Amino acid sequence: MSQHRLPDLPYAEDALAPHISAETLGLHHGKHHATYVDKLNNLIEGTDFADKPLTNIIVEADGGIFNNGAQAWNHAFYWHCLSPDGGGNPEGELATRIGRDFGTTDALREQFSKALTTLFGSGWVWLALDPSGKLVIESRSNAGNPLRDGLLPILTCDMWEHAYYVDYRNRKQAYVDAFWKLVNWRFAAENVARGKPFQVQ
Ligand SMILES: [Fe+2]
Repeated sequence: MSQHRLPDLPYAEDALAPHISAETLGLHHGKHHATYVDKLNNLIEGTDFADKPLTNIIVEADGGIFNNGAQAWNHAFYWHCLSPDGGGNPEGELATRIGRDFGTTDALREQFSKALTTLFGSGWVWLALDPSGKLVIESRSNAGNPLRDGLLPILTCDMWEHAYYVDYRNRKQAYVDAFWKLVNWRFAAENVARGKPFQVQ
């Protein structure tokens, strides 16, 4: 594999406004995400990880290679978890599974939101499939990713301050409300249907 590259946003920088501003997306994608990719490329040069996809790095690496590799993948995945046409409720098979494992989509939203607003420090909250095929909510600090624990990521929300501080300052709940207005259930359904980890191109 050649060097990892910063994937394009799947929409224009201003497409998620007013919920997430162009200023936030410009910094978050163009500076934060880009820096993780650049640092990763520097760190893996000449190592066993130089030719491995991000999903292998997440499972196998430690230290700086894990942190930057996981952050590179987490952000690529997160961009797809948001959509200018997002929000509302899931449909089809995903809705059925959510009903089975959480009761209702509102119950899932409530539990996921609580995990986001109570996460201590920087990190991510994930909706993931456990090995038995059950949907679970998993909080992870810093660059954490449930792939490392044998779970399949379905949906995530970035709870690092850089994701919301420009738009919402310390109002985490307002950012969480914005996330639900943008949430891309179709992408979540694709991850369930694929049954394998999303690959960053
Ligand atoms: Fe981030």
